[in-house]
Amino acid sequence: MNYQDNVLGLIGDTPLVRINKLTKERKIKAQVFAKMESLNPGYSVKDRIGVSMIDWAEEKGVLKKGGTIIEATSGNTGIGLAVVAAVRGYKCIFVLTEKVSIEKMRYLKGLGAEIVVCPAAAKAGTPDHYLVTAKRIADQTPNSFYPDQYNHPANPAAHYRTTGPEIWRDTDGKITHFVAGIGTGGTISGTGRYLKEQNPKIKVIGADPYGSIFKSYKDTGHVPEATPYLVEGIGQSLPTGNADMNTIDEIVNITDRESFDLARQLARTEGIFCGGSTGTNLAGAFKIAKDLDESAVVVFIVADTGEHYLTKFHSDEWMKEKLLLEPQRITASLIADTKSENSPTELISVEPDDIVSDALTRMTDAGITQMPVLQDNVPVGSFHESSILAKLLGDRELFNAKVSDIMDKSFPVVAVDTSLKIIKEKLQKHPAVLVEDFKRITGIITRSDVLDIHD
Ligand SMILES: Cc1ncc(COP(=O)(O)O)c(C=O)c1O
Repeated sequence: MNYQDNVLGLIGDTPLVRINKLTKERKIKAQVFAKMESLNPGYSVKDRIGVSMIDWAEEKGVLKKGGTIIEATSGNTGIGLAVVAAVRGYKCIFVLTEKVSIEKMRYLKGLGAEIVVCPAAAKAGTPDHYLVTAKRIADQTPNSFYPDQYNHPANPAAHYRTTGPEIWRDTDGKITHFVAGIGTGGTISGTGRYLKEQNPKIKVIGADPYGSIFKSYKDTGHVPEATPYLVEGIGQSLPTGNADMNTIDEIVNITDRESFDLARQLARTEGIFCGGSTGTNLAGAFKIAKDLDESAVVVFIVADTGEHYLTKFHSDEWMKEKLLLEPQRITASLIADTKSENSPTELISVEPDDIVSDALTRMTDAGITQMPVLQDNVPVGSFHESSILAKLLGDRELFNAKVSDIMDKSFPVVAVDTSLKIIKEKLQKHPAVLVEDFKRITGIITRSDVLDIHD
């Protein structure tokens, strides 16, 4: 029979996949390969350190039967630890920041872990900070193990022992550049150290979000003030013990926009569904690869799966809210469905036979200034506060008239997939456009709805 004793046998030995179309589009001559860490059983690169840190603790007698594992994590290390804990019978408490996606939080709970969520804005070293909180819980919990992935030597050791040799073996020793993000620094330092020992000419490149300190720290030795960014799992506000700056040759800064854009493109053009930090790594790989020739072999880490981010950057709605959505994906239905919090969620309309005073009340109650006049869901006119009030000033009797007596001409109708460009053109001539889906009017877009959307 061909089987693994348990799921831990599936960790590691992940394949390399060549990137084809995205490199061709950019006229990149070097070969670029994805190291598919998203294929581990917990769907991230962190499964490797979950098992190695727990092996260490068991060997040293730090973790005893029925013990509790407590760790600060952006989610993936928690998943890696929880998979091992499930197999070996330990309890887990993970301390996260509220920046961690809901998918990862639910995943951890699904694996039986308890989670504690800390404010993302808490400053390093303060009591609410997730690292300080994790340490405090560990100090207060008997028979517990606090791996501290940021400083634990079993973290880079796992990559030195497994990730590095796999890449060396699978590239036949031809790798010239290795690109990874830096969260704890375990992946880049352990893998990089192994590869450099095989061939000191191999360049190890860190991909760091703008806002994280690693690039400035590497380039100047100073730790700048960190600023917020959206990519999860990589970057820090303080250096970590496991990020070995001597192993890293160069660090490139990548924006959230570049990271998410490339992560989304990787799915659409190569079929590799990944997290945002993989987009950061790929952006770093492309920055390096553009100046290299055919002999170069660049390997970057696919750190985790896109399924952890379905409600985040893999959602057009989320991307639009963060002003990061590619303009060609901003369509009429998306704009109508993702209006600001103050706008009504349902389409508010009136019928031609409604009385003007009732229509005005409906508009005031909903906090809007214009609405379509619909008869059997077909637009027959429009009702604007300013134009109606002007008419009422001339003749107060019109309060009791029918809407059809006083309404203006109908707003133009656009299909759900109409582009932002065309909608903006129409809104220069009309105060609003109506959105039609399967011959039904389903939404309205006004000038203020598109004011903040950049194309
Ligand atoms: C999604 C993701 N990418 C990359 C990393 C960084 O890996 P490392 O901690 O080995 O630097 C992490 C770490 O948590 C992660 O969660």
